[in-house]
Amino acid sequence: MMVVPTQTYIQKAVDILDNGGLIGLPTETVYGLAADATQDLAVAAIFDTKKRPVFNPLIVHSFSSQIFEQHVLWNERAEALAKAFWPGPLTLVLPRRDSSSLSLLVSGGLDSLAVRIPNHPIALALLEAYGKPLAAPSANPSGKMSPTQASHVAEDFPDLFVLDGGDTVVGLESSIVDLTGELPVILRPGGLSQEKIESVLGPLGAPPVSGIKAPGMMTSHYAPNLPLRLNAPEPLNGEAYLAFGSTPYEGKNILNLSLKGDVTEAAANFFKMLRFLDSSNYSRIAVAPIPLSGLGVALNDRLARAAAPREL
Ligand code: TXA
Ligand code: MG
Repeated sequence: MMVVPTQTYIQKAVDILDNGGLIGLPTETVYGLAADATQDLAVAAIFDTKKRPVFNPLIVHSFSSQIFEQHVLWNERAEALAKAFWPGPLTLVLPRRDSSSLSLLVSGGLDSLAVRIPNHPIALALLEAYGKPLAAPSANPSGKMSPTQASHVAEDFPDLFVLDGGDTVVGLESSIVDLTGELPVILRPGGLSQEKIESVLGPLGAPPVSGIKAPGMMTSHYAPNLPLRLNAPEPLNGEAYLAFGSTPYEGKNILNLSLKGDVTEAAANFFKMLRFLDSSNYSRIAVAPIPLSGLGVALNDRLARAAAPREL
């Protein structure tokens, strides 16, 4: 059920979470599938519902970094980033405290925790009303496209109670920064550009080569049903086309991520437009080249994974 959140529905969401249930939660990045992060069974239900491998840890959400300090070893870099960008599309990976009351399943076997304060009025209202942190991966079946509208969540999980917060503003998942090592490292490019992160932290360490530090960064991810063809300057016969910037091509098989060639606008439209073209019966989806500046880095990362050979 999709509802436009009123105080009554926030209370209903609180009751569902308290009883170990799951809800669909809007954030500024993508919709989350949220559960009480302190309840093992509730967190297990997330993995079960998404068919997510249990070694792939979850992001914990709250409304205040003081709450996170009970669960992670906070440090100066975390403080600086939190001050600059929270609430916002940034997740911090920090060493987990032995005394943390959060379910061990949330960490997926690692000795760290990923934490974030989302910038969405409904998410913040619910997090404050609930008090306890919520574990929330993107609300899609594992390996599939992330949801940027309540209706996307309802399509994938028809029985779920979803708070409808409209279209997500950022449209790509949060950037994940690992602060457990000597140098900070971006584990997942996302809704906050590397330039902005570096403006606070200075130069970053090299990203990990293998998936050990970022267990969720599987090669095939965000996969539509149709095959993708990337860096396509024009559509071929029978293809749908995801354009970027001004283009001479027109038709019902063509959508434009950003007519004015703005990567931030393209990020916001990306999953919605990809889903729309994917629900048609074209042979393939061709995607225009997207520049590697600002959020274009994260967008190209999602495209490469969406186009990767499916390993099932
Ligand atoms: O924007 C977002 O981050 C959204 C919204 C709902 O907050 N959430 C999201 O969650 O994208 P999910 O589960 O789809 O992606 C979380 C990523 C995964 O790649 C996971 O492996 C990684 O975060 N992650 C979680 N905990 C981690 C940890 N302790 N160390 C390293 N990576 C971690
Ligand atoms: Mg996800």
